[in-house]
Amino acid sequence: MVSQTVVAGNWKMNLGPVEAAKFARELKLPRGSTSEVILFPPALSLAALKEGLGPDSGVALGVQNVHWEEAGAFTGEISVPMAMQAGATFVLVGHSERRHVFGEADDAVSQKVEAVLSGGLTPVLCVGETLEERKRDQVAEVILRQLEAVLGPQDIRSKLVAGSRLFVAYEPVWAIGTGETATPADASRAHGILRDRLRERLGDDVGEAVPILYGGSVKPDNAGELLAAPEVNGVLVGGASLDPASFAEIVVQSS
Ligand code: PGA
Repeated sequence: MVSQTVVAGNWKMNLGPVEAAKFARELKLPRGSTSEVILFPPALSLAALKEGLGPDSGVALGVQNVHWEEAGAFTGEISVPMAMQAGATFVLVGHSERRHVFGEADDAVSQKVEAVLSGGLTPVLCVGETLEERKRDQVAEVILRQLEAVLGPQDIRSKLVAGSRLFVAYEPVWAIGTGETATPADASRAHGILRDRLRERLGDDVGEAVPILYGGSVKPDNAGELLAAPEVNGVLVGGASLDPASFAEIVVQSS
C-alpha cells in the first residue's frame, strides 16, 4: 500500500534563486496536511528555496536531472552527491523533456536510477507515451519498456527489495504543457499496467508501496478528480506549481 498521497512540483527551467526565495515566502501550505510535498526547482535555485522554506516547512526538495558519475569531466552536469549536499532527497529521472528534447535513451535512464539509488536519494522515474504512440495503441508497450529499463537490472531490483524507495510518474507526453489532461480513467488504466509490472518484478509488498503519480496539465480544478482515481497516488505538476497559491491549492485537494 502507498501510505501518503504525493504532490510534486516540477519547475523545469523556471524561477531562478531570487524568484525561488519569493515563492518560499509566499507559499502557504495547509496546516496538518498528510500529503508528501516535493518541489523540483532548477538546481541553481535549490539552496535559495531551501533557505527560504526553512527547516520545518515539510517540503522535500529534488533536482530535475543528474549524471550517473559522481564527479569528473562532464561539463554542465551535476552529480548525485552534489544534489545531496545541496539538500535534495529526490531526483526526477527520464522526464519526457529529457527523453525527447535531449535524446535521453532508456539505458541512460537506467544508469541514472542506479546512481540515484546508490547515492541514497529517491528517483522519480517518469514514463509516458507520445500522441503517435497512443494513436498506434502502444501505450502499454511504451510505458512497460520504459519501466523495464529500470526494473530489468538485478542491481536495481535488489536495492528496491532491500528498502530503497522508487517513485514512478506516468506523464503522457501529449498532456504535458498542452492543457490536455488524461481522463481519470486513462490515468487509472496506465497506472494499473505499471502497478502489475511493479508487483511482478518486486513482489507484492514492495511493488504495491511504489507511489505512482500522474502528470500532465494538472491544475487546481482537475487535481481532485485525478487524485481520487484508483491507482493514482499523487500528482506531478509542472506549470501550476510555479504559482505558490495554485500549488498550495493542489496540496489542499490532496489532503
Ligand atoms: P505540466 O507539466 O503540468 O505543465 O503539463 C508536467 C510535467 O512535465 O511534469
